Amino acid sequence: MTQFISVQDAGNINALVKKALDYKANPLMDQLLGKGKRIGLLFLNPSLRTRLSTQVAASNLGMEAIVFNVDKEGWALEFEEGAIMSGNTVEHIKDAAPILGQYFDVLAIRTFPSLKNREDDYSEMYINQFIKYAGVPVISLESATLHPLQSLTDIITIQEEILAQKTSASRPKIVLTWAPHIKPLPQCVANSFAQWVNAWGEADFVITHPEDYELAEQFTNGATITHHQDEALQNADFVYVKNWSTYTDYGKMYENNPAWMLTNQKLALTNQAKIMHCLPVRRNIELSDEILDGSNSLVTKQAGNRVWAAQSVLSAILNS
Ligand code: CP
Repeated sequence: MTQFISVQDAGNINALVKKALDYKANPLMDQLLGKGKRIGLLFLNPSLRTRLSTQVAASNLGMEAIVFNVDKEGWALEFEEGAIMSGNTVEHIKDAAPILGQYFDVLAIRTFPSLKNREDDYSEMYINQFIKYAGVPVISLESATLHPLQSLTDIITIQEEILAQKTSASRPKIVLTWAPHIKPLPQCVANSFAQWVNAWGEADFVITHPEDYELAEQFTNGATITHHQDEALQNADFVYVKNWSTYTDYGKMYENNPAWMLTNQKLALTNQAKIMHCLPVRRNIELSDEILDGSNSLVTKQAGNRVWAAQSVLSAILNS
């Protein structure tokens, strides 16, 4: 593996999942693999889970991890080719990235979308410019349109539940449901989850959201899509809850009906479904207390699994 930006870089998803679960059982089994290697974790946006789980994963492999909060501590970076830098940006990515490539063996980057211009966000210019100029493997810690480490974690968590026979389904029904929020959020987690579940191919996959919240077809193709949440929830084994803003009329928040928030009453429609969310979550807006604090919630286990997903990916990069 030479980069990890989307599911296309994953190769064999089940092999990555198996390796992650091996690491969960024995975190230090490859503790010398990254000896003498260094990863730079660059954050242009905030994080709790992604930052810390990747640091722990690197440490488990004997690798040094250095975090750089570019948005707060670095020079303002310019990403446009040929820019006349008379504005707020101080350093061009084509100058900064090759230097970072000399300091680090692997670079990992978090860059959120602006949600102002769909074409710009979906071109993934920021992460692509790092790939172009850094000269070392690049890992996405969430980009403008995708969050692959989260999605790998999600598949690991689902597979772990199936292996533990906590769900009876050999081919589970997975539902991705839109949820209300107080402000427009990126489509990254939903896009990425759809992309990974479709590529994994081992589940019946349904996406449900209000009208106007269609996601990009390039990620949802293969899923059944419905605007009727109650219908979608029938017999679900896993329900993944997430808000996202509009894709077509880009970055807007249209209908925000609180009835879309998952409750125990809605859970009763499912096959005792396990409930997932990437976190952070706005309690009693996006997901109810009764669901988050209930026995069907996987969110804490899911967030814990971020370490094993990151370790599995780092290991694949270090081995290639
Ligand atoms: N799920 C996730 O990416 O969490 P953080 O934003 O805290 O990293």
